Amino acid sequence: MGTRKTYIIANWKMNFSVGEASLYLSRLGKRLPAGRNPQIILAPSTVALQALSLQVDRRQFKLAAQNFHPRDFGAFTGETAIAQLKGLVDFAIVGHSERRYIFQENDKDIRAKVAAALRHEIRPILCIGETAEERRNGETSAVIYDQLMGGLGDVSREDIGKAIIAYEPVWAISTQKNAHPAKPGEIEAVVKTIRNQIEKLYGKKTAEEMSVLYGGSVNEDSALAYLKIDGVDGLLIGGASLIADQFCAIVEKTRELQRDER
Ligand code: PGA
Repeated sequence: MGTRKTYIIANWKMNFSVGEASLYLSRLGKRLPAGRNPQIILAPSTVALQALSLQVDRRQFKLAAQNFHPRDFGAFTGETAIAQLKGLVDFAIVGHSERRYIFQENDKDIRAKVAAALRHEIRPILCIGETAEERRNGETSAVIYDQLMGGLGDVSREDIGKAIIAYEPVWAISTQKNAHPAKPGEIEAVVKTIRNQIEKLYGKKTAEEMSVLYGGSVNEDSALAYLKIDGVDGLLIGGASLIADQFCAIVEKTRELQRDER
């Protein structure tokens, strides 16, 4: 994991009622001691953010939005403006593959969201990753480049340090049941590509300081192997983050690894 800050992010997706989310937060709160490293970020569904923002101990957990509209207000029925989330969250997930492929968000939408989050001092967690077909066709580097450029295109040099990148190969997400996990070697190569591309766009210092996470079917058993990959600074966890034992075990393993590396 090295010297960069480590992040463990729980993406609860469309799970838990507000009451369940609140109970789950207090369970996690009892089991996970406060500490800034790794930084634990919880991404509940939008409806739970208000309640959880009042309940959460921010020294222990930060909150992230899973989605938002980039405009500050307007006639957008059913949407939640990033401006309305200000004060509730410190981070926001942008460009998750489920948003890209199920809800047809394109790079222009994602770029607007990254810029909107930064405008409101909310740190964007930009998700990027190739599909199985793109990987088979040898297009991984090109896709990664397009998604980085697409998402970060409007970000100034001043703000770039606030962004976090999550590499999530689309083919490796939600595969807990049919077991086709990404191999550490496959991830290491792409994480290198990401850092090289960041270096070309923003310079060496930014590339060295940028936290790059891995996400895609991480569980208690695989977490350590992913965390040990050179250049990986944490994890974005979906399914396994919904189970307290699994999630706490992953955080504990991260802490152990940090102790060992010291
Ligand atoms: P998963 O989800 O851990 O269930 O594969 C990760 C994600 O979609 O962010």
